[in-house]
Amino acid sequence: MKIVAVKNYDEMSEYAAHLLIKQITQKPSTVLGLATGSTPTGTYERLIQDHKDNQTSYEQVRTVNLDEYVGLSPDDPNSYRYFMEKNLFKHINVRPENTYIPNGKAESLEQECTDYEKLVQELGVDVQILGIGVNGHIGFNEPGTSFQSKTHIVKLAESTRQANARFFDSMDEVPTSAITMGIESILKSKEIVLLVSGKNKAGAMKQLVTREIDESFPASALHQHPNVTVIADSDALAECK
Ligand code: F6R
Repeated sequence: MKIVAVKNYDEMSEYAAHLLIKQITQKPSTVLGLATGSTPTGTYERLIQDHKDNQTSYEQVRTVNLDEYVGLSPDDPNSYRYFMEKNLFKHINVRPENTYIPNGKAESLEQECTDYEKLVQELGVDVQILGIGVNGHIGFNEPGTSFQSKTHIVKLAESTRQANARFFDSMDEVPTSAITMGIESILKSKEIVLLVSGKNKAGAMKQLVTREIDESFPASALHQHPNVTVIADSDALAECK
């Protein structure tokens, strides 16, 4: 695991965007694994700016997202599909049919998980972007999730619901479950880039570097992958000194 220490959120976003642009330039048919949440939005902003300034093309790029809330339709402003359209897809020339996100309104959620896992493995993710939860979750794989997990339905931890409540009008509206790629699914990506920013992630960052590989801290599974870059800012690294 390579740790890149950067000054702040902007530098983290800059570094990550640069890495992704390089990847897409070298391999125009890249399969990008994407995350939602506050952490990657600065990176997406820079990809959009670069697309405008330098015409980096997403014509052949395919994207797969990590997760989606159960019960929210794609046009619900809190769905991850909506988030991705708003924060990235509609500003670049990726083909809508090449962007994949689990369907949280699928009639059979079990079938959706099976189909999504198959799709992700068939596509083969070149670079997976990740954020980390304060409890060490990656995707929506909460503490205790098996490292052998594939795409599955999860009941969200209360801490995760609270952390995400800022996007909803009230706590009652925060979904209680989600579909997420599993830890094994994530580890099959050729390369993983974990973005960590802010004081509230300092505890998780410290655990990531100091703890044993253990299912009670999902992000520790990343130590089992040969090609992980963690881009962390000084606030996130504050407890690692
Ligand atoms: C989002 C996801 C989550 C987030 C994590 C951190 O698709 O999979 O694991 O990356 O909850 O969220 P933020 O970036 O909002 O702190």
